[in-house]
Amino acid sequence: MLTGDDTVCQNVRMSIQGGIVGKMAKKNIFSFYQMKEKGEKITYLTAYDFPTARMAEVAGLDMLLVGDSLGMVVYGYEGTLPVTMDQMIVHSQAVRRGAPNTFVIGDMPFLSYQQSVTEAIESAGRFHKEAGVDAVKLEGGRRVAAQIRGIVESGMLVMGHIGLTPQSSAQLGGFKAQANTAEAAMEIIADARAVEEAGAFAILLEAIPPEVGKVITETLKIPVLGIGAGPHCDGQLLIVSDMLGIFEAFTPKFVKKYASLAGEIVTAFQEYINEVRSGKFPEEQYCYKMKAGEAEKFRELLSKSS
Ligand code: KIV
Repeated sequence: MLTGDDTVCQNVRMSIQGGIVGKMAKKNIFSFYQMKEKGEKITYLTAYDFPTARMAEVAGLDMLLVGDSLGMVVYGYEGTLPVTMDQMIVHSQAVRRGAPNTFVIGDMPFLSYQQSVTEAIESAGRFHKEAGVDAVKLEGGRRVAAQIRGIVESGMLVMGHIGLTPQSSAQLGGFKAQANTAEAAMEIIADARAVEEAGAFAILLEAIPPEVGKVITETLKIPVLGIGAGPHCDGQLLIVSDMLGIFEAFTPKFVKKYASLAGEIVTAFQEYINEVRSGKFPEEQYCYKMKAGEAEKFRELLSKSS
């Protein structure tokens, strides 16, 4: 287990309005190892844009994932396969700007790392050089161990991701829960060990039963994050659009909705439509005023010009 000093530079945390609300240390890998050791849960959420990242930082999230799930929840694709490196970089840059003091992880999109170790290092490097992320995440266990090792040996941090891996959902028969037989659970555990041995600083488990999540969390020294992997993991991830009730195309079993914003947003849009159509909006308070006496002068000039 790596150890280290958690007293990284004290950065200023800004409120949504831009005021200073307090000081917080940007977390690093040692913070996460210590949290695992002390049994403190790690809070982890996806973010794809500046305002969400800013709100997440103000709320105090420990980690943010710029997930390739943006393919579905931002771009409306049916899955994550069409997502490109260029899209991931642009969104990671926005999240970095919104959450400069939060640990941000860039999600390696389909075919940005599978083909070779060199490709994996180059893609991870782009995330770091162009978007200033703190780490990258990639999907797969034993079959991507060489890529994880290559990125780590190049000096970067990698989070593994096993269980339901959306980029290979065709091989899994769709977006289905994994490890629901004893044999399949043993395979997942072998993948988890391989990811740790390859040098990943943390691992994400998606859509597996809690008893399997528990064994992996207790077996590995690195922090184990879960999304649909039960309560025993060292931390929890949710997709921000799911938990806020913005993305409604489908809702996985593991999603707890903390808000239902889609309904509220549609209501606000309808109110706006009604007020524009009826002429109620914009009321006087939303209009700019001419300087004192200028409106009269303006009317005079207009009458002379006609
Ligand atoms: O892209 C993403 O948001 C993810 C989660 C589904 C785990 O990888």
